[in-house]
Amino acid sequence: MQNKNRQFVLARHPDGMPKESDWSLVETPIAEPGEGEILVRTLWLSVDPYMRGRIAPSKSYAKGVEIGEVMQGGGVGEVVRSRNPAFKQGDIVESMAFGWQEHVVLKPAGTRKVDPRHGPIRYALGVLGMPGLTAYFALLEVGRPRPGETVVVSAASGAVGQVVGQIAKLAGCRAVAVAGEDDKLAWCRAELGYDAGVNHKTAGDLGAAISAACPNGVDVYFDNTAGPITDAVMGLLNLRARIIQCGRVAVSNKPGPDIGLRFHGHYIVTRCRVEGFLVFDYVNRYDEGLRALGRWVKEGKLRYREDIIDGFEHMPKALIRILKGENFGKQLVKVSDEPRG
Ligand SMILES: NC(=O)c1ccc[n+]([C@@H]2O[C@H](COP(=O)([O-])OP(=O)(O)OC[C@H]3O[C@@H](n4cnc5c(N)ncnc54)[C@H](OP(=O)(O)O)[C@@H]3O)[C@@H](O)[C@H]2O)c1
Repeated sequence: MQNKNRQFVLARHPDGMPKESDWSLVETPIAEPGEGEILVRTLWLSVDPYMRGRIAPSKSYAKGVEIGEVMQGGGVGEVVRSRNPAFKQGDIVESMAFGWQEHVVLKPAGTRKVDPRHGPIRYALGVLGMPGLTAYFALLEVGRPRPGETVVVSAASGAVGQVVGQIAKLAGCRAVAVAGEDDKLAWCRAELGYDAGVNHKTAGDLGAAISAACPNGVDVYFDNTAGPITDAVMGLLNLRARIIQCGRVAVSNKPGPDIGLRFHGHYIVTRCRVEGFLVFDYVNRYDEGLRALGRWVKEGKLRYREDIIDGFEHMPKALIRILKGENFGKQLVKVSDEPRG
């Protein structure tokens, strides 16, 4: 093993849409694991919209990346040296603490072993990982869909949205996809079972288009985007609707506060429930969620699409892609070949 570790460090806080030059590619010596730690070779890195928040200078629910620090992010990798009896060389592990680097020293807390028998190991970053768990707990615990209700999902073909739509169908609901490309919507309907789709880029009057797709109004809105899609859905809510505030990717590049419509009238008229969601609040129930998701994948009830870029050097480009809506499915970067056998 050569002793070089390539890493992306943050060069500056982006102004609006990030640019590749907002990160620098550096080489450092591969670190040695301390007592209780493991050294891991990165195989897959996850690319997620939350990363935009981590490189903004403003405060959020988690500590951001400082200038000069390794960019944060989750990954899957192979243990190459272990100083912890719970892990052995060759184990495959997943953690949110990989960072954008080719080797990482991990502590046992927050590191889970990935069983290759449960599906491709990279699923631990998608349907059998954080995005899948987000869809599962947010829809079922916060959205509480009932059979016959209408569930609208923004960013419907993405890592989270594709799982939400399929769970909504398993719950007996009408599922309506909102996405930014016709081929994404066609796939949502043909492969995932969504009942209808609306293209937020070409619909024109978004409220009218979503209304036409929801003849019985909206009971659950799974909000991955905030922004104009949310503005349009608000006027379509049914009595006692539930709004899951999961993400805000449509406004995450905006400088300053996002000033939009005032929804208070809709809240009063519909007595809806609006609840912010953070997947990490459910960490003690991850096993339960993973069991259900794993069973559905095995039974063929959950399909999952990924969008893979080959090569560690493409990490910044991959993040910019999802912020521009260019990904089609869960965005991953392949960093190195998986071990054989
Ligand atoms: N709260 C939590 O615990 C939690 C956990 C995981 C993810 N999330 C959030 O869930 C959301 C989806 O995450 P993901 O990993 O599944 O990402 P993703 O959907 O795979 O990728 C992002 C998608 O967002 C859409 N998008 C980008 N810019 C947009 C814009 N201006 N207007 C409307 N749509 C836009 C694009 O799809 P279109 O082609 O459809 O526009 C893009 O493909 C994100 O907001 C993320 O932050 C939250």
